[in-house]
Amino acid sequence: MLTLREFLRDTRGRLGKVGAPEPRLEAEVMLSDVLGVPRHRLYAYQDDAIPEEAVEALEKVVRRRLEREPLAYILGHREFYGVDLTVGPGVMVPRPETEMLVERALLVCLERMDRAGLVVADVGTGSGGIAVSLAMHLPGVALYATDISAEALEVARANVEKFGLGPRVTLLEGDLLQPLPGRVDVIVANLPYIPSGRLEELQPELAWEPRGALDGGDDGMGLLRRLMGQAAGKLADDGVILLEIDPGQGETLRRLAGRLFPGATTSVEEDLAGLERLFVLESR
Ligand SMILES: C[S@@+](CC[C@H](N)C(=O)[O-])C[C@H]1O[C@@H](n2cnc3c(N)ncnc32)[C@H](O)[C@@H]1O
Repeated sequence: MLTLREFLRDTRGRLGKVGAPEPRLEAEVMLSDVLGVPRHRLYAYQDDAIPEEAVEALEKVVRRRLEREPLAYILGHREFYGVDLTVGPGVMVPRPETEMLVERALLVCLERMDRAGLVVADVGTGSGGIAVSLAMHLPGVALYATDISAEALEVARANVEKFGLGPRVTLLEGDLLQPLPGRVDVIVANLPYIPSGRLEELQPELAWEPRGALDGGDDGMGLLRRLMGQAAGKLADDGVILLEIDPGQGETLRRLAGRLFPGATTSVEEDLAGLERLFVLESR
């Protein structure tokens, strides 16, 4: 017999030993998922025995996780901005830091709600988390979600359909802004921005994720630069560009913006850890 308390304690220890970053949280998420009990309710049943079939299912999950396969791939879903997104190999696992980009994009759109037919593009949509979250909170807005990966777009499509957003989120396959049929008011993007040489130094979980979703080239900024170049022809007057960035990339983008969008205002915003996380451009 294995109680919930014992599972949580043992699993926390096993995950901690291999260096998994959030062992306690992950042990709870596994248990909650397999038992179908909300995480905040688990502690009410701590001394109950876990049914035998569930113990076997949990052991399979733990073993895969000990190989550092991302938990979101093992369970097939991940919460992002309060939405339960389907995810799987072929698509990057949405990260909590990207919720800052969603918050900022919501603010930008709400400030412009007086404009009829506001159009937003989520570039490099991956699992579609940014586009889905924006569509859910902004009923009057039309969205395009682009990605170069057909596999990622399949996952994005599953998420768009799961939440009944099909009529408002148009998925387009292609390079950055090229597939967009016209100008858009807001461009939001969490594109690959990690310098190629740093990828090997990062958490082993990244090896499970598609390289094309992470690798930003020599200095990590290849795609960001190209996006800025394409944006000059795709951003509406008074449009806004919001880019998630790696700390240290803001100044290069500001200089580039100065050449491509003379007269635009730019800023670099920090996350809660005080790290540069967002580049914001408002064109005139
Ligand atoms: C860092 S992941 C982010 C995914 C998603 N936006 C998120 O925040 O979870 C970057 C995404 O950009 C896509 N991508 C890479 N190069 C691209 C390109 N040239 N054009 C469009 N999308 C691209 C990748 O396939 C991947 O889905």
